[in-house]
Amino acid sequence: MKKLICVLISLMMLLGASACAEPAPAEKLFTPGTYSAEAQGIFVPVKVQVTVTENEITSVLIDATGETPELGGTAAGTLAESILNAQTPNVDAMSGATVTSKAIIAAATDALQQAGADIATLDAQRKDTGAGTGEKEEKIVDTEIVIIGAGGAGMTAAIMAKQEGKDFVLLEKMPYAGGNTTKATGGMNAAETHYQKEQGIEDSKALFAADTMKGGHALNDPELVAELANSSSDAIDWLDTIGAALPKISFSGGASVNRIHAPEDGSGVGGFLVEHFSAKLEELGVSILYNTAATELMVDAEGKICGVKAEGKDANYVFNCKAVILATGGFGANEEMYTQYRPDLKGTVTTNAPGATGDGILMAQALGADLVDIEQIQLHPTVEQSTSMLITESVRGDGAILVNQKGERFTNELLTRDAVSAAELEQEGQYAWIIFDQNLRDHLKAIEKYVKANLTKQGDTIEALAAELEIDPATLAKTLSDWNEIVKNQRDTQFGRTTGMNADLTTAPYYAIKVAPGIHHTMGGIRIDTKAQVINTEGKPIPGLFAAGEVCGGVHGGNRLGGNAVADIVIFGRIAAQSAFDYLK
Ligand code: FAD
Ligand code: SIN
Repeated sequence: MKKLICVLISLMMLLGASACAEPAPAEKLFTPGTYSAEAQGIFVPVKVQVTVTENEITSVLIDATGETPELGGTAAGTLAESILNAQTPNVDAMSGATVTSKAIIAAATDALQQAGADIATLDAQRKDTGAGTGEKEEKIVDTEIVIIGAGGAGMTAAIMAKQEGKDFVLLEKMPYAGGNTTKATGGMNAAETHYQKEQGIEDSKALFAADTMKGGHALNDPELVAELANSSSDAIDWLDTIGAALPKISFSGGASVNRIHAPEDGSGVGGFLVEHFSAKLEELGVSILYNTAATELMVDAEGKICGVKAEGKDANYVFNCKAVILATGGFGANEEMYTQYRPDLKGTVTTNAPGATGDGILMAQALGADLVDIEQIQLHPTVEQSTSMLITESVRGDGAILVNQKGERFTNELLTRDAVSAAELEQEGQYAWIIFDQNLRDHLKAIEKYVKANLTKQGDTIEALAAELEIDPATLAKTLSDWNEIVKNQRDTQFGRTTGMNADLTTAPYYAIKVAPGIHHTMGGIRIDTKAQVINTEGKPIPGLFAAGEVCGGVHGGNRLGGNAVADIVIFGRIAAQSAFDYLK
C-alpha cells in the first residue's frame, strides 16, 4: 500500500508537473476566450490559436502544416511550449526554422493582442526567466510498463494498455506526439476488410502476404508478414472502434488490387490517426510525458527488464518497471547512423521527422538484441528536394505520370519505390517531373498542400506547362497524348503499367512538381518474433522487452510497400501491448 501511494505521488509529480499553474497575478491581463491569427511562413500561413483566462495563457495551438515538414513541425511543438512556459509570445526562434518561428511569434502576438494583452507587460512578467539554471531533479517512478515513443505504434499500445487497466508511462522525446506517423499521407494496407467487401474489391490475406514478400524481394520474415496480413482486417475493425475509420480504398505501388485504406475525405492517414489516437488517449485520461528521451534500458541479474532511464527537460528519471515497449521509430533522420550502414546515401534528403534517430535500436542493441536487414533503407522516388516534402504515391496511384527533362516517360511509374527511384537516378539531372491535371487535383486532398507550398508549376495547356518546365512543348504534348491513349485502351505498350490508369490527364490546368529520390523508410531494425518479443543475438527473447513499428526489422524486407508501415504500427503496436500484458501475468 505504502509503495502504491509512493507510485501515485511520483506519477502525480511526474504527470502533473507541466499542468501546475503559477499563482495568478492580481492584474487582469486578458479578456478570457480563444483567439486565432495567422502569419506567413516560408510556404503557407501559419495558424496560431491561443486560449486565455483573465491572467494566464492556458493553451497554444499551432498549425504549421505545409511548412518545411521537419523543422516546421518541430518549431510548432517547441514554440507552443515555450510560449506557454514564458506566458509571452516573445520567445526564442528555433534554430534552423527561423522563418517559421517568426511567423508563429507574429501570429501569437496578434492573437494575444486581440485578447487585449499588452505585450510589453507580458514580457516584463515573463515566467521562464529562471529556466535551465538549476540542477535537474532526479525522479524515481514505479510503474508496470514503460512505452517509449508516442508515434503510431506507441500510442496504439498505450490505448490498449489503458483499456486493459495497466499502470504505464508513455515517454516522448519531442515536445509533441506523432513522429513519422503524423507524416503518413497515403494510407494503410489491409486485406479482406469489410470496406473492401462493401466496395466489391476482391482481395485475400494470402495475396496481401504474397505482394508484401514480392515487394520486399523475399528478404522479409514470412511469419511476420503472415501476421501482418492475417491481422490487418482486425486492425481496421479496431480503428473503427476508436472512431478512426479508413473507408476510402485505392491503389498503391506493388499491390495486386486496391488495398490501401484512407480517411473518407482523402486527408493524410497519419495526421488523421494521430489526431484520433490523441483524442482517445485524452478521453481515457492518459498523459504523455513530453520532452523526455529514454536513454537506457535496465535489466536485473537474470537479464529481465527492470527499468528505463530517461532525460527530461527539468528532471532525470528512473522508471522501475517490469516490461518495456519500444516504439521509437526508425533512423531515417540520423545521417550518421544511416551512412554507417549505407555510405552511398550521404547527403540524400530525408522525408523523416526529426525524432527518427534510431534510439530504440541502440538501446536494444546494448542489451544484446539482434538486428535484421539494418542496411535496407528505402528511397521514395517523389520527394521535392528543397523542402524534403513527400509527394504521395497516391498522386501516381490516381493517375499521374513521371517525365524526364526531355518530356518523356521513362518507367512504369507504379513499380516498387526502389525500382522507380533507380530509374529516376538514371535520368539526366537525376530528377523527374510528376505531371497531373485538375481532375486529379480535385480528387486528392493532399495536393492542396503542395499547391499552397508553391511546389507546383501550372499551365492552362500542356504547351504552357512545358514552357514553365523548360521542356520542349511538342514532346510533352505527345507524351500526354500517348498516355491518354494508353488510359483509353488500358494498355501501356511502352512500360507495361497496369495500375493507376482509371482517369486520363485531359482536364486543364495541368500541373507539375520537380521530384527526386529521398530517404523514406528504414526497413531494418530490431529482430522481433510474431509476439513482438525482442530477440537477442542467440535467438532468444529478452524477457520483458517488446517492440513495434519502424524500430523493428523483418516485416518489410528489402523494400516496403506503400501502406504497409501504418498497418505494421497498428498491428504490432497491439500485439506488443497484448504480449506485455501476458508477460506481466
Ligand atoms: P514514429 O511514428 O516515428 O514514432 C516514434 C516516436 O518515438 C517519435 O515520436 C519519436 O520522437 C519518439 N522517440 C524516438 N526516440 C525516443 C526516445 N529515446 N525517447 C522517447 N521518445 C523517442 N507508411 C504507410 O504505411 N503509409 C503511408 O502513407 C506513409 N506515408 C509516409 C509519409 C512520410 C512523409 C513518412 C516519413 C513516412 C510515411 N510512412 C507511411 C511510414 C510510416 O509513417 C512510419 O513508418 C510509421 O508511422 C512509423 O511509426 P512508429 O510508431 O514506428 O514511429
Ligand atoms: C506515400 O504516400 O507515398 C507514402 C506511403 C508510404 O510510405 O507507405
